[in-house]
Amino acid sequence: MSVDALSQVVGNSPRMRELKQQILQVSQAEFPVMILGESGAGKEVVARAIHTLSARRDHPFVGQSCLAIPEALIESELFGYEPGAFTDARESHPGLFEQAEGGTIFLDEIGDIPLSFQKRLLRVLQEREVRRLGSTEAIAINVRVVTATNAPIEQLVKAGDFRSDLLYRLNTFEIRVPPLRQRIEDIPLLVEAFLRKHGARYGIEPEQPGPEVIEQLKSYPWPGNVRELENFVVRWISLGREALNALDKRVALSFEQQDTNRRWLSMTMSEIEAEVIKMVLHDCGGNKTLAAKRLGLARKSLYNKIERYRIEL
Ligand SMILES: Nc1ncnc2c1ncn2[C@@H]1O[C@H](COP(=O)(O)OP(=O)(O)O)[C@@H](O)[C@H]1O
Ligand SMILES: [Mg+2]
Repeated sequence: MSVDALSQVVGNSPRMRELKQQILQVSQAEFPVMILGESGAGKEVVARAIHTLSARRDHPFVGQSCLAIPEALIESELFGYEPGAFTDARESHPGLFEQAEGGTIFLDEIGDIPLSFQKRLLRVLQEREVRRLGSTEAIAINVRVVTATNAPIEQLVKAGDFRSDLLYRLNTFEIRVPPLRQRIEDIPLLVEAFLRKHGARYGIEPEQPGPEVIEQLKSYPWPGNVRELENFVVRWISLGREALNALDKRVALSFEQQDTNRRWLSMTMSEIEAEVIKMVLHDCGGNKTLAAKRLGLARKSLYNKIERYRIEL
């Protein structure tokens, strides 16, 4: 059982072995887990493995990206609703927490949930019960909460965009999924797994990439991580070596842009925002009305940001 669920998490590098060890440990506990890592690195794969290895495995795994739900619907989506709760609510609808009863709810992109909703989510987690929209009845829930984000969550807390009490509720366990460029030894195994997965789907025996192709793949920085590698393998199956051309160009491009990109990539969203505001203000000769217009911000919100980031003019 355990071996099987972990084999879905492909990789044998030291960092992946450590990650699998953590998955095993965490799956035996009931505490909330927060999974951190870049987009495409495999956070959802890890979340599923935790569920499959846990005692909850015969109950549902309900995954949802918080970014995919419009802000106005997030509460009804997660907590459910009763008829008349809003215009289109004609019948009773259990939310995702109820749908996950006995199992695991996986809230992806948790860093992006609106501040206004965070307090309500915190209450649900503290009280272990939900109230459907339009109802006062409390429904007890038995659900393990696993969250993931690629946002710098500590920075969001500092910037006031994420409640620290909610973060401490969610990150009893923190698991970091390393980006693919930090474990390039895993590339051959991953390529093999994706060839099997997608080759079977197309019903063909795909050509195996030779050692020189693997070397090329290892020197590419994979900004889109494992997801990008999987897409490459799909192209390889239908195009063969031609699939490398697109990759070649992108490698060249990414090396060229690396210096600038690296700098931006190592910054938090707030730091980037502060930097862009400074640049635009400078470009507008310090005229805040003009700068606000160019940034698509209300004047008041530009003033707030200037204050928050302590931008000096
Ligand atoms: N270690 C891994 N082993 C096998 N497949 C993986 C692994 N990591 C990622 N993938 C695949 O890459 C894609 C992106 O993974 P996902 O878990 O959705 O990333 P994230 O949630 O971090 O954006 C998925 O198709 C997933 O199956
Ligand atoms: Mg994802």
